[in-house]
Amino acid sequence: MLPLAAERWADGRSDLLQDELTAVVGSSHVLVDPALRAQYEVDWTGRWGGPARLVVRPGTPTEAAAVIRTCARHGTPIVVQGGNTGLVGGGVPPAGGEADATAVLLSLRRLDRVGEVDAAAAQVTVGAGVTLDRVHAAAAGAGLAFGVDLAARASATVGGMVATNAGGIHVLRYGPMRSQLVGAELVLADGTLVSRMGGLVKDNCGYDLVGLMCGSEGTLGILTQLRLRLVPQLPERAVALCACDDLGGAVELSTELFRRLPSLHAVEAVDRSGFQLVLEHTGLPDLFSETPPWTLFVEASGHGDVVDEVGGILGRLADPERVAVGTEPRQLATLWSYRERLTEAISAAGVPHKLDVSLPAAQLVPFDRALRAGLSQACPAARLVVFGHIADGNLHVNVIGPAPVDDELDAWILRLVAAHHGSISAEHGIGRAKARWLGLTRSAADIRAMVSIKAALDPAGLLNPGVLFGT
Ligand code: FAD
Ligand code: MLT
Ligand code: ZN
Repeated sequence: MLPLAAERWADGRSDLLQDELTAVVGSSHVLVDPALRAQYEVDWTGRWGGPARLVVRPGTPTEAAAVIRTCARHGTPIVVQGGNTGLVGGGVPPAGGEADATAVLLSLRRLDRVGEVDAAAAQVTVGAGVTLDRVHAAAAGAGLAFGVDLAARASATVGGMVATNAGGIHVLRYGPMRSQLVGAELVLADGTLVSRMGGLVKDNCGYDLVGLMCGSEGTLGILTQLRLRLVPQLPERAVALCACDDLGGAVELSTELFRRLPSLHAVEAVDRSGFQLVLEHTGLPDLFSETPPWTLFVEASGHGDVVDEVGGILGRLADPERVAVGTEPRQLATLWSYRERLTEAISAAGVPHKLDVSLPAAQLVPFDRALRAGLSQACPAARLVVFGHIADGNLHVNVIGPAPVDDELDAWILRLVAAHHGSISAEHGIGRAKARWLGLTRSAADIRAMVSIKAALDPAGLLNPGVLFGT
């Protein structure tokens, strides 16, 4: 039973907001009941979240603009959410009790229209709420492909992926979401709709508003539609899992593959602890007689005989006894599942301290060494899992054990990253999780410039307050 607005909000102004939003999207898309709101209020990891005043789900860009205009008129902050697969708390309200809930949570999942693929331009127009797997399906239906892929593809939306500038496993070939974007439609903080959906690859008329949205994490505007570039399908694929004796060996192999294998499509690394966690969680069979210190996942795709190409190169660079290769679609999927099910395996073991970082190639090994030494001294009982997109210098550091509310560990790891000349966010964003440490890898002048942009586009600070810059 929905609580009556008057019971929940004593002041007349709040009831008015709910009534006005209901007039825009209909009562079934304004969620007030805590049980209905619950799935929107906690993030994927279970570490971040808090109550929203209500959840509103517009069904069209025009409705989204009207919702934002209404909230702006009431001076009500908005938390923006897509598929809620983000890992830094940027799409959920801040922690607090029901009485602290001030923000409207704007869910964009209903903006889920997939347009016709424009085969001549190799582009497609999609609603911000379209999931990644539907973009892949649309591209495949037209004999094309989409350049970004990640394990949360069934839920992650393109709006959220642009807002975080998501990376994933194919960045080395196609770049992150930023490189796939040729246009966007967005709603500014006052409810104005701005459209740049012409799909022109070359179009230099002033500031790159579309580019600015990449990595803006819902703080500058609300994406409602995206125009995405598509890439050719590469029919031949091979995947190899290679055992490496240490991270240095994995980095070296990755570097050599990048130089010598033109069909290289992905290179991912998982440490022993991560691989074992996947085995424990999934029951998948071990592929090696003994789990190696590091496993490198290599994928090659192309038109020619990529299987021979990969086999030939790995035959020279790695010990063939310690390489598992797959070429059939089912084998490929099985081999990838050792990597793709890792995030789920970590969360099944506990609420992780999840730190997505990047480092210069030469600093990967020194950083990893310092991390393991420091952690085993400070937190000997903690379980550390390190994995990531090694060709991009991107490591995902996960620590299970320390209490989720304790952020001393996060601070220590992020300082270690800064000391090794890295970035505290490679692909997940800053969100609420890392806002207080933005200054570790961005200068004061840089942050001032970003704050000026935020103030110009959202002068009242209503879009995702607390995200990126903190409170
Ligand atoms: P949400 O989580 O809903 O929101 C993320 C951020 O975007 C928030 O700040 C939110 O306010 C903002 N936002 C959402 N929609 C909009 C919009 N329409 N307009 C403006 N702002 C918006 N990420 C990677 O980069 N690479 C990976 O390999 C990867 N793998 C993952 C694997 C798993 C199993 C999981 C659970 C997550 C993974 N992620 C990865 C993280 C996540 O999928 C990405 O951050 C994704 O881009 C978020 O999309 P979403 O729709 O779920 O956004
Ligand atoms: C990944 O690469 O699998 C993701 O970024 C998710 C994670 O860090 O757990
Ligand atoms: Zn990742």
